[in-house]
Amino acid sequence: MKNLKPDAEEMRRIGYLAVDKIVDHIEHLSSRPATESASREEVQNALPGKFSDKGQSFDELFNVLNENVFSKILHLDHPRFFGFIPGPGNYISAVADFLASGHNIFSGVTFEAAGAAQIEINTINWLCGEIGYDIKPSGGIFLSGGSIANLTGLAAARKSKLSGEFEKGTVYFSDQTHSSVERGLRVLGFKKEQIRKITTTEDFKIDIPDLTASIESDKKQGLSPFCVVGNAGTTNTGAIDPLAEISTICKKHDLWFHVDGAYGGSSIISKTGTKLLKGSELSDSFVMDPHKWMFQPYEIACLLVRSSDTLRETFQIIPEYLEDNYTDEGEINFCDYGIQLSRSFRALKLWLSLQYFGLDAFRSAVEEGFHKAQQTENCVKQFKDLQIITPAQMSTVVFRYYESGLSEDQLTYINKSIVSEIVSDGFAVISSTRLRKQTVLRMCVLNPRTTLSDVQKTVEMISQAGKRLRKDIPAH
Ligand SMILES: Cc1ncc(COP(=O)(O)O)c(C=O)c1O
Repeated sequence: MKNLKPDAEEMRRIGYLAVDKIVDHIEHLSSRPATESASREEVQNALPGKFSDKGQSFDELFNVLNENVFSKILHLDHPRFFGFIPGPGNYISAVADFLASGHNIFSGVTFEAAGAAQIEINTINWLCGEIGYDIKPSGGIFLSGGSIANLTGLAAARKSKLSGEFEKGTVYFSDQTHSSVERGLRVLGFKKEQIRKITTTEDFKIDIPDLTASIESDKKQGLSPFCVVGNAGTTNTGAIDPLAEISTICKKHDLWFHVDGAYGGSSIISKTGTKLLKGSELSDSFVMDPHKWMFQPYEIACLLVRSSDTLRETFQIIPEYLEDNYTDEGEINFCDYGIQLSRSFRALKLWLSLQYFGLDAFRSAVEEGFHKAQQTENCVKQFKDLQIITPAQMSTVVFRYYESGLSEDQLTYINKSIVSEIVSDGFAVISSTRLRKQTVLRMCVLNPRTTLSDVQKTVEMISQAGKRLRKDIPAH
């Protein structure tokens, strides 16, 4: 029987195997396919379903994983992964995750890991500064992802602004808002009838007159509007809501202003992002996902708040069995800022990579995303059978294969099939979405490894696939 304690030599050997594997993966990303996906049936037999009593050799397990797990995936860090929102990651942060879990650091309270808390505080302070919040009293917390960060922000909004009857509370956001906002509200106990999905303008930004009218009408009916959610880059098109105007409305009606910048928020560190996201500094809470456009491995999102007291008031409970942790009055304990007590030291990866590469490297990698999206738009425009639906916004371009005379159903068939063809070919990954009943294609181009040639070849493949699929459609 093994005893859960491999000797030092075995630990090193295993660690080096892992490092070599990751370095090989990163080094050869561009020359390998973007996807070699397998169905679950295909991998089911290769992966042991039962656990052995005596254990197995690491090398055998490692081979099984290499063959059936690490290679058989859609590589979100691949330079030609343009679907959904890519996750480029970076090596230094992967090492940070290993170091954090190797020391099994508990990041729930400062007393148990003061250095880890200081690193989280410093990194959060930097992000608050980038948003434009005053360093005091702002604050925040690193969380697992944008979905949890939105939920956490909405919980603070409810606590701060909904003092009356819960059932009367109403919340407002555009019809382009990410589903995690609605899900967060559902988890918090809100019913569909309390949620107002506001229409969007031509360019998919929240319609301000509709927002104002909806709030005023609810107030007249004796309801209690308490929060508006603005978008700092929608998932569909990268659209940015008019943040300053939303803030004015929130101030007038004393509502909480939450911004979902899970996708686009990180771009605020670049010159272009700072300009585009003007008004973020007026929000009460702001979500961003460093595991997207700040090049971190999963999972790291953050919720930033104008006043950290709002988080403490929402979440802090000090039971008797944790009193030993509360040695200093006023100390920041991250378990008081969200629902997690046991927390991994996820701040380390962002801090270490920022320190190692320097801010300029991050700023210019984000700036490149804006630039490459523009190049993608230009590239799409060169193909007569591709129609731009929304131009480059943030790092996203939306377009579709189009031919006049084809019905929406036929166009949907062609565009959906283009996505399947491209993904199963493995050269690149793109994804589709629906905008005002049209099925459209999205390319999200934010990976610093992506070259112009990656973009050009992918767009060319899309056009060729469209032409081929068009032939399946009977002549009219
Ligand atoms: C705008 C937006 N909000 C929220 C989320 C949810 O973030 P996560 O997947 O990190 O939970 C996403 C994910 O893509 C997003 O694009």
